[in-house]
Order: sequence, then structure tokens, then C-alpha cells
Amino acid sequence: MTDNRVAAVIIMAAGMGTRMKSARPKVLHEVAGRSMIGHAIKAANALSPDRLVVVLGHGREQVEAHLAEIAPNVSIAVQEQLLGTGDAVRAGMSVLPGVTGKIVVTSGDAPLMEGATLREFVAAHAGNDATLLTALLPDPTGYGRVVREDGRITAVVEQRDATPEQLAISEANMGFYVFDADVLRAGLAKLEPSNAQGEYYLTDVVEHTASAGYSVGSFVLSDYGQTEGVNDRIQLAQRNAELNRRILRHWMEEGVTIVDPETTWVHADVDIAPDVTLLPGTSLEGATSVAGGAVIGPDTTLIDVEVGAGAQVVRTHALLSVIEEGATVGPFSYLRPGTQVGPGAKVGAFVEVKNSQLGAGAKVPHLTYCGDAAVGERTNIGAGTIFANFDGERKSRTSVGADAFVGSDSVLVAPVEIADGAFIAAGSVITDDVAAGELAVARGRQRNIPGWVEQRKARNEGDK
Ligand code: UD1
Ligand code: CA
Repeated sequence: MTDNRVAAVIIMAAGMGTRMKSARPKVLHEVAGRSMIGHAIKAANALSPDRLVVVLGHGREQVEAHLAEIAPNVSIAVQEQLLGTGDAVRAGMSVLPGVTGKIVVTSGDAPLMEGATLREFVAAHAGNDATLLTALLPDPTGYGRVVREDGRITAVVEQRDATPEQLAISEANMGFYVFDADVLRAGLAKLEPSNAQGEYYLTDVVEHTASAGYSVGSFVLSDYGQTEGVNDRIQLAQRNAELNRRILRHWMEEGVTIVDPETTWVHADVDIAPDVTLLPGTSLEGATSVAGGAVIGPDTTLIDVEVGAGAQVVRTHALLSVIEEGATVGPFSYLRPGTQVGPGAKVGAFVEVKNSQLGAGAKVPHLTYCGDAAVGERTNIGAGTIFANFDGERKSRTSVGADAFVGSDSVLVAPVEIADGAFIAAGSVITDDVAAGELAVARGRQRNIPGWVEQRKARNEGDK
């Protein structure tokens, strides 16, 4: 048994979040593209706890459905009535009967807390029976104050219950705790709702623990921005901006050039290689990954997109797509789910691609809709080509082979197959397959009528 083994993490997440004024429970709101409860679980998992318990109350069905997707192994404890943080932890402990060892308590609405910080916190608990995460705040208003006698922690007093002398204490309780399980159980059993809010305060466990002769320690965190929570939409925006700044700093430290951090947004689950450049107005979302040397932006949004080495993506909106090594996309391109742009291929201005695979070196440079298609290597799709994939009832696929040429302003009416090396004359409406090496022309033949303009003029004058 290693010293830092954690028996359980209890995440308190039953609060109403009334000030969010939302139909969604507070902890489901996202910060840097991940739900707040998702952040809390990620940080907790860095402790590799034997058990992870989430305490739910308000909007419990919605949160449970989300947890089933992102963290099916968590245990759920239900707090029927919101009687305070002490009651929330009591609910959490009720699904951990007979548990021994270290219990870590955190909150579901503090999305900036890092796993590495929680690990240091647990390490600092060694030799204590209870440990508080505290900070010395320039303005501790609203927080519980950490009361010490001869340097030893004896209690935490809430703002509304504090004396003027206690209000002058700048050391605040930031809402993260490590307890020995037996000490926690004993302290919870003694809680009374005899305070200004009529709640069972988890913080009163501190006083019970200290007065029973156990040792209460502290872990003073200078980077207390990590502990800041979300109570309303203003704080949601602030935490989102702060986490984004931290994420960008991390990637810059890892060798990514970010030209304008003020207008660049990178979600928590994005992966970026060294020597990538992000130009202003770039937003990388979901599980997007970008390989070395790629240049993204300006004004580009990529959602769950994989970008290969050295690719360039300019003024583009793309989702669930793969852009391979050396490909170029944009400006003004729209890549919809299922798009694969092959190595060195090109998707140009005002081109929309959906559920299509473009082979290596294929080019779709201008003004095209390409849906449900495969385009072979080195094939050129002329300006204004439309892949007509929908007949009003069904969608069908089009395949164009390698080294083919599709003339400008053609319509390829699916299902249709154009073989390797075939040539489609400009302005054709192709409804039948075209074999290798064939030229297909599917339009009216041009007719020139000599003297027609003069004749019309004469006709019009006669009419007057
Ligand atoms: C709590 C601490 C305070 C500390 C502050 C740090 C207590 C009594 N006070 O105050 O010392 O400075 O956190 O942010 O604990 N929750 C439940 N069920 C409940 C009540 C709350 O699950 O019945 C959850 C909330 O959803 C939230 C967390 O517990 O995630 C903290 O609750 P909150 O009401 O925000 O506590 P504070 O009053 O801020
Ligand atoms: Ca709070």
C-alpha cells in the first residue's frame, strides 16, 4: 500500500445553480469544451482513487445521463434535499460503507482544478487526520475563514457566522479536503444545522476533528485561480477565458506559435504538435489534433478534426474531418462530417465537402459541392462542379477515378462512376458511367448563326 493511495474521491455536485438561470444543471455547462463535472472527474482520476463518487441532487437525471457517457465507472450518491455540504458528503459516504483510508472531497463546479495539484494536496496530507486546501486571499469575502490557534487549525467559520475579528482573517477555505475516513465519519455524525444558514456544514467537521485531538493540516495554494468556481454566467465566461489562457500557455510552452492569444480558443481535449502555427481567430474544438508544421487560420473553426503535418487550413469551418499531410484547405471552405482530404490534396474557395474522400493530390479548387463522393488521386474537379447526391428521396454516391478531369460547371448525378483517366467536358450533366480513357460530353452542341444580330435589329425597327 503506497502512502498516497486514495480510498475515494467524493465530488459534491448536488447544488441548484440557481443563479445560472438555466434549464441545464450547473455542472453540465461547459468550460473549454468539457462539462464542469467532466473537469472535476478528470482531476479526481489523477489520484487513481479506488472509488469515485459523485453526489447528485438537482437535475440528477440529466447529470446521470451525461456521466453514463463520459465516466460510466463513477458511483452516484443521491442527496434528496440540499441540506448543506456536510449532508452532501454524508450522502457520498453512504455509498462507501466501511471504507477506510483517505477520502478526498472536491466540488463539481470548480473546473480549473488540476490533477497534479490534487496529487500535491494529498501528499501534503501525510501525517494529518484532515487537510484543508487554503489560500491567502486579498479579498476573502464570501469564503469560510480558517481559524488558527498557536498556528494550528481549530475551525472554519463561514462568512455569515463570523465575528469581526474572524472576518479579518485572510486565509480562506477553498472547498477541497482530505480526510481520514474514520475521522470524517465521526465528524459528520456530530453535525448540527445550528448556524446562520440552517445547514449541515462540512466545515464543522474541522472543528470536531480538531477538538477531538486529531491533527488538521493545510495545503496553502498560491495559484488559487485553480479553485475558483462558477455560480453564474459571468463567472462561467471568466473561468472559460482563464482556462483558455492556461491551455494556450501550455501549448506555447510546448512549441506552438499562437499569434494572437486574445482571439484563439483551444478546448481542453485538443492535441497540438510543436511547430504548429495558429493564426488569429482560430478555434480548435472537441478532439481536434494538429500535427507538426501545420498552419491554421486566420478565422478557422475545427471541431473534431485531424490535421496532418504541414497542412494549411485558411478561413475554414470543418467538423469530423481528416485533413492529411500537406493538404491545403480554404479560404472559405466548409468540410462536413466524413470528409477526408488526402495528402497534398486541395480544397479551395467556396467549396463544401461532405462524407467524401479526396485522394492524394486531388484538387477541388473553386465553387463546388462535393457530397458522398470518392475522388481519385491527382484528379482535378473543375470550378462550379456539383456532385448531385440527392434525388429528392435517396442519397447516392459518386466515384471519380484517379487522374481524371471534370470540366467546369459539370453536374455529376449520383449514382455514377467515372473511371480512371476519364475526361468530362465542361458544362456536362453526367448521368451515365464513363469508362477509362473516354471523353463524355453531355450538353447541347454550340451553333453559330451568321448575321443574326443585324437581322434582329432590322426586325425590331420594322415593328416600330
Ligand atoms: C463552501 C464552504 C466554504 C468555502 C467555499 C469555497 C461550507 C459550509 N462552506 O461554501 O467554507 O470557503 O465552499 O468555495 O462547506 N453542495 C451540495 N449539496 C448541498 C450544498 C452544496 O452538493 O446541500 C455542493 C454545491 O453544489 C457545490 C459545493 O457543494 O458544488 C459547495 O457548496 P456551496 O453552497 O457553493 O458552498 P459555499 O457556500 O460556497
Ligand atoms: Ca460556492
